[in-house]
Amino acid sequence: MPTTKKDVQRFWGRFTTPSTRGPGTGPAATICSRASTTWEMPLRALEGLRVLEVGSGAGGHSALFARRGARVTAVDLTAARSRATRDKFRLLGESASGCLALQADGERLPFAEDSFDIVYSNGVLHHTPDTEAAVAEVLRVLKPGGRAVVMLYCKSSWHYWINMWLCVGVLQGKAFRDRHWLGKATEWGGGHAQTVENPVTRCYTAAGLRRLFAGFAGLSLRKGEFYFYLVPKLGRLYRRWQVRRYGTHPGGVLVYGEPWPIQSPLERFLGPVMGWAWFITATKPGKP
Ligand SMILES: C[S@@+](CC[C@H](N)C(=O)[O-])C[C@H]1O[C@@H](n2cnc3c(N)ncnc32)[C@H](O)[C@@H]1O
Repeated sequence: MPTTKKDVQRFWGRFTTPSTRGPGTGPAATICSRASTTWEMPLRALEGLRVLEVGSGAGGHSALFARRGARVTAVDLTAARSRATRDKFRLLGESASGCLALQADGERLPFAEDSFDIVYSNGVLHHTPDTEAAVAEVLRVLKPGGRAVVMLYCKSSWHYWINMWLCVGVLQGKAFRDRHWLGKATEWGGGHAQTVENPVTRCYTAAGLRRLFAGFAGLSLRKGEFYFYLVPKLGRLYRRWQVRRYGTHPGGVLVYGEPWPIQSPLERFLGPVMGWAWFITATKPGKP
């Protein structure tokens, strides 16, 4: 059966982590120091820019952009998550007075074309049934010369080929039985037992991204985010050592409910080689 928007809503609406509740506008919103939130987003030059976040989740990133002076509009498919984002704007008070959080579908954005200077979306568009439609919407609502800053999962990665394809897909046989096995394997809903199943996850090669973003100009791709804890068995051992050696991130408990280790130099080195995230920027053609 094809995945519907209701399936996606059901999963993300019930997938609550501490990050959907906490304020998370500080370090917690940028827990990966090399994520596009801090790397590709021009945090020092957001003042007065119109920024749209698609799939704002708990709203930590939108709140961070609002604090940097952007006029943020945040949309999420679920009511719970758009409420969480709205609450964060409220916590920010005056500095988020021009910001808005709405429940809306990234595949059919309720905005006129040429509306935003930046469209930001972190880990979202690979979870919607029609990723092509969502990317076309990003292009439509951007102003000419405006920039898309998007994170999508990377297929040419350790996590896809070893942890997912080999361990879950082949050795557990799930890839042969279920078209949507990757979604169920990548996002783990319902606390310690998987009581809610993520209906859709896609991941992309560089060539796939070039096709997906063909309507944009100046496409740039950066691969990153390799974590040893994702390596079966050995990962947990490494993580224990890593916490002792490098310490933990101040936002870890807030976002993930447990101390989050600072990335080790080896992980940072391996990120561009076999990381699980593509950090993508692309520009809408035309004169600003
Ligand atoms: C992995 S979470 C990412 C949340 C946030 N961007 C972050 O980095 O923490 C995916 C989010 O995308 C939202 N989402 C999925 N499909 C969507 C769609 N078609 N339109 C808007 N939001 C969507 C989900 O409700 C969920 O909040």
